[in-house]
Amino acid sequence: MRDTRVGVHRTPVRSAARFVARHPRSTGSVVVLNSAGLWAGYQAVLMAAGVAVVAGVSWRLLDQPTFDRFAGRLLRAWWRRWLVYQRQWQRVVFACNLTTTDHRGNTLVPKLLRVRSAWVWDSLHIRLAKGQQPEDFEEVLGRLAMAFKARAAAVRLLKPGKIALDFQRREPFDEMLVPLPELGETADEVDLGKLVIGRDEYGRDFGLNLHDKDLHILLGGETGAGKGSWLWALLRTLAPLLRAGHARLWVIDPKGGMEFSAGRPLFHRFADNERDGLALLAEYVETLDRTKLQLGRGGHRTATPSADTPLEVLIIDELAALTAYGSRDIVRAAEPLLSKALTQYRAVLGRVIAATQEPDKNTVPMRGLFPTRIALRLASASYVDMCLGEGMRDMGALADKIPAYLPGVAYVKKDGRREPLRVRAAYTSDDDIAELVRFCTSTDAAVIPLHRDTTTTATPPAESSATADAVDFTAWEVEDEDVEEIPEDEWTEGDEDIA
Ligand SMILES: Nc1ncnc2c1ncn2[C@@H]1O[C@H](COP(=O)(O)OP(=O)(O)O)[C@@H](O)[C@H]1O
Ligand SMILES: [Mg+2]
Repeated sequence: MRDTRVGVHRTPVRSAARFVARHPRSTGSVVVLNSAGLWAGYQAVLMAAGVAVVAGVSWRLLDQPTFDRFAGRLLRAWWRRWLVYQRQWQRVVFACNLTTTDHRGNTLVPKLLRVRSAWVWDSLHIRLAKGQQPEDFEEVLGRLAMAFKARAAAVRLLKPGKIALDFQRREPFDEMLVPLPELGETADEVDLGKLVIGRDEYGRDFGLNLHDKDLHILLGGETGAGKGSWLWALLRTLAPLLRAGHARLWVIDPKGGMEFSAGRPLFHRFADNERDGLALLAEYVETLDRTKLQLGRGGHRTATPSADTPLEVLIIDELAALTAYGSRDIVRAAEPLLSKALTQYRAVLGRVIAATQEPDKNTVPMRGLFPTRIALRLASASYVDMCLGEGMRDMGALADKIPAYLPGVAYVKKDGRREPLRVRAAYTSDDDIAELVRFCTSTDAAVIPLHRDTTTTATPPAESSATADAVDFTAWEVEDEDVEEIPEDEWTEGDEDIA
C-alpha cells in the first residue's frame, strides 16, 4: 500500500523491516510457529494447533461471552483486519473516492492503522491522507458501510489527522426477546446481589447488584430512550420485598407524575413536582439519618432488608429538575441533600436510582457519586464519556448511535471489566404495571397468581388507566417485525468480492 507521505524512498528491505516493526504480533506469531516447526517438527506443531483449535471452539461453545472477552475479541480483530479490512481497504478507498493527489501527481491514500473488534462494533483507526478531513468520510459513510457489509457506520475524530471509523456488524436485540422479571413469591427469593432486569448482548440475564456494587445508579438517556423501562424493571424485581414491607420506595417524578403515577399504591412517598420532591428528599435524608443513629447506638449494621430495616429506595426521574432546571432555591437546597443520600446511607440500605437526559457536569454535579452509570441512547457523542467515564466511547460504548427503534438498550460499565456491555431492559407495559400494583398491594399471603388475574383481592388502582402514559409502543413492535432476518454469517464475515 502506498504511504501517505511523499518522497520516502522505498526498498523491499525497508518495507519488510517496517512491516515487522508495525505488526509485531502478527510477524511474531509467524516466527514462533515456524521456529517451533523447525525445532519440534511440523507434525507436532500441526497437532498442537489442532488441540488449540478444539479447545478454543469448545470454550466458545460452552461460554461464548467469556471466550469473546478474553480471546474472541482479539482473534476477531486480527482476523478481520487481515482478511476483511486491510485486504479490501485500497479498493474501497478508491471506489469511494477517498484519495487525494499531491503536487507531483502521486495518489495519497488514507492509512488503516489498527482494527479493534467488539461484539457489535468494529472500530478502525485511520490516518487521513493529506488534504482530507473527517467530513470526507462522513459523506460516504453509507457507501463504506455497504462495502464492508456493515449495518451502519460512524466516523469520529480521534486527534488531528486521525479518525476512527466504526462499523456495526450485528444487532442482537433485533431478534432477542427480553422477558419481564418474574414476580417472586417470597421476600427471601429476592437476591439483592443479582436483580435480573434484562438481557445483555450475548443473550445472558443481566442483573444489577443493589446489595453492594451498584449502590446507586444513574441512568442517562434522551426522551424516549427507555429510562422508564429500566426503572420499572428494577421495581418489578423488588416486588416481593415491597409486598412484605422489606423495601420502601420514595419516588420523585417531577414531570407531573408522567412516569410513575400509575404505581402510586406501591410508593411509600410520592412527589410529582419539584417542590414536593425537595420535601420528600429532605424527609428521606432525615429518616435515614435517624435510622443510622439508631443502628449506630445498637452497634450493628444491616445487610439484609427486613420489616424493621427496609431497603430505602429513592427514585428520581428527571433528576435535572432538582439539580439544574428547578428554581434556584430548590436546586440549592437539593444538592447537599442528594450528595448526602449518595454518600452516607450504604449501611442503612439507602439506595438512589436516578434518571437524567443530560449527564453532564452542569446538569448533574454529583454524577461522580453514582458508582454505576448506564448510558441509554444519548443526544450527543460527548455525553457518552460524561455518563460512563473517560474513554468509554472509544472502548465501544456508542450510546449516541443506539437506533431509535431499540428503546431500552443501553451501555453499561461493569466493575472489573474494561469493555462496556450492551444491555436491554425488559419492557413493562401499563398492564404489567397494574399487575405489579395488584401483586404488591394484595394482602393475601397465600399463593398469588403470577399472571393477570381479576380475582385477586386488591382492586386495580384507579389512576393506572387514567394516567396511563399514552406513548405508542406498537410502533416499534411493528418495526421489529419488519426487520428482515438475515442469517448472521451472510453479512458478518464480510468476505471477498466487491465487484
Ligand atoms: N426496554 C424496552 N423494550 C421495548 N420498548 C421499550 C423499552 N423501553 C422503552 N420502550 C418503548 O419506548 C417508549 C419510551 O420509553 P420511556 O421509558 O418512556 O423513555 P424515557 O423515559 O427515556 O423517555 C416506551 O413507551 C416504549 O414504547
Ligand atoms: Mg421517562
